[in-house]
Amino acid sequence: MKTIIIEMKEQINKADFHFIAQLLQAGEIVAFPTETVYGLGADATNETAVQKIFTAKGRPSDNPLNVLVATKEQLYELVKDVPNYVDKLIDTFSPGPITYVLKSSNQVAPSVSAGLTTIGVRIPNHPITLAIIEEAGLPLAAPSANRSGRPSPTKAEHVIEDLAGKIAAIVDGGQTNIGLESTVVDCTGEHPIIIRPGSITAEEIETAISLPCTVYEKKEATEQSKAPALKYVHYAPEVPLILVNSEKVEAVVRAEKSEQKRVALLYQSEKLAQLDVDEKLYLGDDEAKVAQQLYEILRSFKKEDVDVILCEFPVFEHNRAIMNRLTEAAMEIIK
Ligand code: TXA
Ligand code: MG
Repeated sequence: MKTIIIEMKEQINKADFHFIAQLLQAGEIVAFPTETVYGLGADATNETAVQKIFTAKGRPSDNPLNVLVATKEQLYELVKDVPNYVDKLIDTFSPGPITYVLKSSNQVAPSVSAGLTTIGVRIPNHPITLAIIEEAGLPLAAPSANRSGRPSPTKAEHVIEDLAGKIAAIVDGGQTNIGLESTVVDCTGEHPIIIRPGSITAEEIETAISLPCTVYEKKEATEQSKAPALKYVHYAPEVPLILVNSEKVEAVVRAEKSEQKRVALLYQSEKLAQLDVDEKLYLGDDEAKVAQQLYEILRSFKKEDVDVILCEFPVFEHNRAIMNRLTEAAMEIIK
């Protein structure tokens, strides 16, 4: 299949939205930017179209897809038994980087929920995404537009790298603003539980609704859980990533070097700037910028150039979203 690239960086041509909507209505799958990462969209009500997402991504069939809608009304159509606090959450944070997991009203194709009775729904805050959903007039199943296991795409180039030839079209809207995926919140209980941290924090949620908001922690890899995705490899770069406690970086670099390994180093402490490694990148102290660029940085290291990426940690210890993605992406953590 030839993947059509639709440019929307410089100027937006209204006719393009009509064309994209036609592809989606015909059951094709299309990648597009959102404010978090690029998504791979399909008509959520069309089982055949939804299956194409699982195939193109190589996604395990028991990992549910979240669904993008344009309005609060459209969101409510897809769910039932909604606790009172959800309305306040939507008014406070949507459109935005937050996915609500709620009881499904079974309006979408069965494999969207991957056998669960719940559905994850989000109203994205990006003009291109909203225009596509509105023009198509459909809820769109839209996971991140990467091959399963890889870092999520934050530029159209990353989607091309992973999915060119496997999907109908890619909308190039430039670099995404936030860079990490939405906060996923289980809203099926008396109070919300974060099952994937993102830029909207538990503290912000608690403030908005005056209820406790807990953060679900990964336990056993095999555990039957509220967060089906937790048992899979995620965000892994092509070269193995090792998180190394600041105090041990020097010793680990020496050990890797003694095995003739070519080392890339991601660091924040000034004292590590002097270390002799093959590639070096200073992460800096701007959290939003690190979040925005993290996946691009992880994707930038290639097997031809380096054998291992060492990343000093903690990188912004209190920032759950960044630490969660780094921990998941890492092959090993040296504490
Ligand atoms: O920011 C985002 O959420 C991006 C953009 C494209 O919207 N999408 C995204 O999709 O990150 P994906 O599929 O890569 O991650 C969605 C997460 C997965 O961890 C999935 O397991 C979880 O949401 N999820 C979806 N439906 C769920 C459900 N019914 N119950 C529990 N978790 C669910
Ligand atoms: Mg993903």
